[in-house]
Amino acid sequence: MSDKVTAPMVRARKGGAKLKMVTAYDTPSARIADRAGADIILVGDSLANVVLGFETTLRVGMDEMVHHTAAVSRAAPRALVVGDMPFLSFAVSPEETVRHAGRLMREGGAEAVKLEGGRKRVPMVEAVVNAEIPVMGHIGLTPQSVHALGGFRVQGKEPETARGLLADARALEAAGVFALVLEGVPDTLAGMITAAVTVPTIGIGAGAAVDGQVLVFHDVLGYHDGRLPKFVRRYAHLFDDAVAALGAFFGDVESGAFPSAEEAYAMPAETARSLLEEGGASGG
Ligand code: KIV
Repeated sequence: MSDKVTAPMVRARKGGAKLKMVTAYDTPSARIADRAGADIILVGDSLANVVLGFETTLRVGMDEMVHHTAAVSRAAPRALVVGDMPFLSFAVSPEETVRHAGRLMREGGAEAVKLEGGRKRVPMVEAVVNAEIPVMGHIGLTPQSVHALGGFRVQGKEPETARGLLADARALEAAGVFALVLEGVPDTLAGMITAAVTVPTIGIGAGAAVDGQVLVFHDVLGYHDGRLPKFVRRYAHLFDDAVAALGAFFGDVESGAFPSAEEAYAMPAETARSLLEEGGASGG
């Protein structure tokens, strides 16, 4: 578990040991993910939902993504740090996409970037890959397209859309992505895509027939009190634990049990004596 994970190492894991990926948005969460053995830490634009309180991921821009990516890379994790490209940062032109991806790398310290979309994104993916920046693709239920898709709906249930996603996966592979996130697609389709491409697939709400899994940090650890999608398995209850811990602290403040003498700084006896002699205790 010592070698720094690189994009080529991830690429070479196709069909091998399952890839373990989780999101993180700051230095402590990146340290936790790394200590737990993550292969990939994604600074996801889910930042908008789980950290910044927005309804959709459309609400974060480059500056926020660079800021949080830099916080994650300061943890210097063994895991590969992937910076997520926010809404509209890769839709306008290949040139602009390269500049934005470059910011995540240069200012944010990312080691790869991820961007949402299929065949339409091929010129952008090619331009970024040509700039020596590793790109992770992301297809299926792509949250930045929520309005275009008409809601957060599982994608690829009909023959036409399933064929479209297979074509997207092949096109992104040909454009040079080193890995592909499959989000919110039927498990059978995820298995077909996984068999159809030579790059690893990483699923979220895509079943088991993929090369790895990713979940959002706050979902998997129960670090919020919101609803969880069906595909999330929660392994801890940090929100409830934190409420209980702060409640205990506030209870001790109310009762005077906090702080104890051991939790306070003692004044040297000599200083206390001389202040008392001068009447310091009465403020004179
Ligand atoms: O932003 C995010 O968290 C993501 C993953 C869930 C894949 O894109």
